[in-house]
Amino acid sequence: MTPDSIVERLVLCGTAPDYEIALLAKEAGLQRLTGALVDEVLFRCEQPVNTTPVDIALEVTHEQELRRTVLRMAAGEPIRVLDAGDPTAVVRRRFRFSLTDLVRRLYGPLQQPHSRDFTDVFLPERPADLTELPQILQATHQAGGTLLSGCTSDAPGLGALSVAYGSDKWASFHWYTQHYEHHFARYRDRPVRILEIGIGGYAGDLGGPSLKMWKRYFHRGLVFGLDLFDKSALNQPRLTALTGDQGDAAGLRELAERYGPFDIVIDDGSHENEHVRISFDALFPYVRPGGLYVIEDLQTAYWPRFGGTAGAETAPDTSVGLIKRLLDDLHHAEYEPKPDTPRTATQEQVIGVHTYHNIAFIEKGVNGESSIPAWMDDEAWKALGAITPEEGRELGASR
Ligand SMILES: C[S@@+](CC[C@H](N)C(=O)[O-])C[C@H]1O[C@@H](n2cnc3c(N)ncnc32)[C@H](O)[C@@H]1O
Repeated sequence: MTPDSIVERLVLCGTAPDYEIALLAKEAGLQRLTGALVDEVLFRCEQPVNTTPVDIALEVTHEQELRRTVLRMAAGEPIRVLDAGDPTAVVRRRFRFSLTDLVRRLYGPLQQPHSRDFTDVFLPERPADLTELPQILQATHQAGGTLLSGCTSDAPGLGALSVAYGSDKWASFHWYTQHYEHHFARYRDRPVRILEIGIGGYAGDLGGPSLKMWKRYFHRGLVFGLDLFDKSALNQPRLTALTGDQGDAAGLRELAERYGPFDIVIDDGSHENEHVRISFDALFPYVRPGGLYVIEDLQTAYWPRFGGTAGAETAPDTSVGLIKRLLDDLHHAEYEPKPDTPRTATQEQVIGVHTYHNIAFIEKGVNGESSIPAWMDDEAWKALGAITPEEGRELGASR
């Protein structure tokens, strides 16, 4: 089993029966599962606040086996995993979870109550130098809290996550996370696959703040990013940075065949109007029914240097022109009432177009609601006792 497939199975195990977890342990081995779980815990952990460095053990048990990972925590430093048998390790605290409980904590539904599902041994050994006891006590207390912050599936808001990871989707010149919260909430507990076009990062910075934000927000999500530049150094469990051009339709389809279908696609790439349309045409077919396609930065529809239209009314070949066309597609039953008229894919599959300032969410599903039958002419309406539009206008004018 590859590390990626182990993580994918672990995510699904969050809501699967216990025997699925036991089966995975048998196939992958407890050591590899523990490695993947520790990676996830470290990704979720808050920054350590203990100024006195302290070593904390995270133990995972399954049947008769136990795997221990010792973590060194100190404020201002990344949490370090010590090598097994590191002679400098002095474990001040031990948290022990069963494999099943830790998998449920990390990949189970959000906000489920977790209590008494672990063992905590606080200061197992008497410190050699008791003059250091006050600092050791405080550091052990704080570092324990830090570790537990990584052993949960809490629900931080996207605004806070955006700021924490350095994404510009909130409180910059964009105010997008409020809309993302509104549309993404229903996917949050699901094992979603999400693709964002455009990974970001300038001046030597590798970028990827939003990919990390999505990984943290969707605690069961597999996150993929696409960029012109190779950003594979960002790769980590549940996050894969792919290289490609969003203007290359064939390349996009190839990528989607391999990594899709996706529950969510977000276009935050070049914002060239032509690219926005090419990417939508290539990738919308790979959005799952019930999924969403998001287009950011619609302002470039009004910017000629991005292929937009100067002036107040955008042309059909812009991103806003695309949205306007999708609105018409959504209502195709109103202007193409004949049942044998061939429908386009977007007429059949776009079931919602939600547009806010500079961002649009396009919902995919079956656009199959019937409309008022075409034979409902004035005579038929009259038979129902309704007035015709013409009679309505005459009545209004006479008042
Ligand atoms: C606005 S930044 C993305 C920011 C990122 N989505 C975030 O929220 O942190 C735009 C990115 O799109 C990438 N990009 C530009 N043209 C592209 C293209 N044709 N195909 C794919 N990515 C492209 C750039 O390299 C840049 O990293």
